[in-house]
Amino acid sequence: MIKRVRSWWTREDKMEPSAPSIDNVPEHVAIIMDGNGRWAKRQGLPRFIGHRSGMKAVKRTTIAADKLGIKYLTLYAFSTENWKRPKDEVDFLMRLPQEFLAIELEELIENNVQVRMMGDREGLPSYTINAMEEAVRRTADNDGLVLNFALNYGSRKEITDCMRELGRKIEAGTLKPEDITEEMLDQYMLSSGIPDPDLIIRTSGEMRISNFMLWQMAYSEMWFTDVYWPDFNEHYLYEAVAEYQRRTRRYGGLT
Ligand code: IPE
Ligand code: IPE
Ligand code: MG
Repeated sequence: MIKRVRSWWTREDKMEPSAPSIDNVPEHVAIIMDGNGRWAKRQGLPRFIGHRSGMKAVKRTTIAADKLGIKYLTLYAFSTENWKRPKDEVDFLMRLPQEFLAIELEELIENNVQVRMMGDREGLPSYTINAMEEAVRRTADNDGLVLNFALNYGSRKEITDCMRELGRKIEAGTLKPEDITEEMLDQYMLSSGIPDPDLIIRTSGEMRISNFMLWQMAYSEMWFTDVYWPDFNEHYLYEAVAEYQRRTRRYGGLT
């Protein structure tokens, strides 16, 4: 296998004056991309225009994260509760991965990005799964930024499925309840293989988690902004990372 070395992370342009220090960059940043609908409404536009503009913010943020040296970027794109929305909006959202990857996949491949998907395949239309699976397959050997899409993701469902799986093992006699460990649960979560988020960002001014990575966020730092997702850009990411770097993570201990 030829190891790809190209990435947006190039020495010449990563040191923008406004960029935070590259020491102590969070390894995993997870973003609740919220506010597409309100962004559109503010301009008298239909909600779907907001979702499409949100895709551009995904691209900008991916490049900025890679330049900063962030290793994992998880983006909450569709929750298990978002099925409650009107059918035409859900249909539109389901087309977006395909639309995004048709435009961006080649550039993601060239820049050594590894695409992953975290969520239930069940319930997603075949064109959505196919587009995601193609991206995952074609970037599987890349070892740059891991771009993890939380699609049809819900943390309670994830935890419930994990419990069922462990229950089956106990029933089959291959696992003893006393042998269950936190590390074992980590492995059964959809985020298996990805470290817990160091920093969780939510846009649009909402101060809630909306069923996102409940198990994994035990000691994540949180950063909220009023900015709607389609307006998010590298400068907000820099602000969030700079704030993260000023914090002291104690994990229950003392410094
Ligand atoms: C985030 O924007 C995208 C998804 C949840 C799919 P919203 O669609 O939730 O936008 P608001 O919150 O209604 O403004
Ligand atoms: C959270 O946003 C889900 C995603 C960003 C995909 P929502 O807009 O669905 O969250 P609530 O309903 O305001 O909590
Ligand atoms: Mg919302």
